[in-house]
Formats: sequence, C-alpha cells, structure tokens
Amino acid sequence: MSTNLINEELKNEDIVSEMRKDYRMGELKEEGLLESPFKMFDMWLTKEIELNNEGSEPNAFTLATCSIDKRPSARVVLLKHFDHHGFVFYTNYNSRKSKELTENPFASMTFLWTQKQVRIEGTVEKIDRLESEKYFKTRPRGSQIGAWVSEFQSSEVSLEHLKQKTIEMEKKFQDQEVPLPPFWGGWRIKPYAFEFWQGKSGRIHDRFKYTPNDSNGWITKRLSP
Ligand SMILES: Cc1cc2nc3c(=O)[nH]c(=O)nc-3n(C[C@H](O)[C@H](O)[C@H](O)COP(=O)(O)O)c2cc1C
Repeated sequence: MSTNLINEELKNEDIVSEMRKDYRMGELKEEGLLESPFKMFDMWLTKEIELNNEGSEPNAFTLATCSIDKRPSARVVLLKHFDHHGFVFYTNYNSRKSKELTENPFASMTFLWTQKQVRIEGTVEKIDRLESEKYFKTRPRGSQIGAWVSEFQSSEVSLEHLKQKTIEMEKKFQDQEVPLPPFWGGWRIKPYAFEFWQGKSGRIHDRFKYTPNDSNGWITKRLSP
C-alpha cells in the first residue's frame, strides 16, 4: 500500500485519554501474602474464576519474548497446566514465539484479571514430548487437525492453502487418532519472579514482588505503585 494515511482521522484518538477507572475491589496487605507465590497465584486465579466475568478468560495471559537482536514481542496464549515446576502453554514450535524462546530462553507472562495483574518472569524449556502427547489427545479433533494445518505458524499463508491443507489432513487421518505433530508442543516457564498488583482507589495500588531467597523459599517486597 502506498497511500499516505498520515492525516486520516481516527474516531477514538482523543477518547482514550478520558478513559479512567477507579479501582475499589479490595486491597492486598502484607499480612494477606501467602508464603508461596504459586499458592498466591492459585488463590487469585480461583477468585477470578469465581467472578465469572463475561468475556474474561482467566487462563489467558500475555506472553512476552525477546529475539536475539533485542526486539520484544508479545501475544496472548492460554495457560494449560501449572504446578511448582512452572507454567505450561502449548504452541507451534515453528512460530515466532518459539523461535524467540529458542534463541533467548526467557519469558514474561502477564495476567490481566478484574482490577488485578499478575506478572511472572522465568526461564523456559520445552516440555517432555510425552506430556505434550497426553495433552494433545485431550484436544477436540478440529483443533488437532488445525495444528497439522498450521505447520508454519506466523509465516505468510493464503486462505486457499489452509482450506486445501485441512482437506488433505482430514483425509490423511481419516478413521484414526490424530497424532501429535513433531512441530507442536508445550513450553514450561520456570519462574524466578512474581508480582501481584491489586488496583486501589487514588492510584495507590498494592504491588508485591516475590523473588527467591537462599533456602528454596521466597522473599517479598512492596513496590512503589
Ligand atoms: C485468547 C487467545 C488465546 C490464544 N491461545 C493461544 C495458545 O494457547 N497457543 C498459541 O500458540 N496461540 C494462541 N493464541 C494465538 C496467539 O496470540 C498468536 O496469534 C499465535 O500464537 C502466533 O504468535 P507468534 O507469531 O508470536 O508466535 C491465542 C490468542 C488469543 C486471543
């Protein structure tokens, strides 16, 4: 496209500066912090699920990665498992995010919940193929076929190609279980920092950061909002 669009009017260009929300749903006190940030995450996730907000996806988070040439990129993915070993999501290993995680194995996760934010930073590793296989089996057949169709996630493609490939894959796996594609699986983010942010009235929000101590535990610090 070569048209000069620089003077084009944008309907909301000034409206966003007026948008303001007062957060009044609670506070996070030092006494309310649990010793384990995993337990804390679990507790806040439960609260978000219980709120059952229309349109909210409590297990969706923004995953930030950074290429070897220091260019960050971010996108939303779904958390599919977590325990004390880390946080697991599934994707295509040929995708932009996977390339960046391979080049530079650090990631940051951000959950935006109702007047809350959780940030997690960690190192990453590909999960066991058996673990990916186990999860892949639980996906609906359409999603399993979809994984095979989108072999080169994040590269340019035509709709025609996607349609053709869907027909081809449906035929290939007719009357059989769809196997896990070799280019698809999970990544585990192993946290070295957590931050819990609770919005409060007057912009004096509560922020607490967890970092590891020397004895397999965690220390917490309040951060300036
Ligand atoms: C709510 C939501 C959930 C998503 N979940 C996933 C997911 O779990 N895995 C995935 O690969 N992409 C997921 N996507 C698509 C990604 O945001 C992204 O478009 C895709 O993974 C390609 O990203 P990349 O080019 O940075 O690798 C999701 C998108 C949305 C909006």
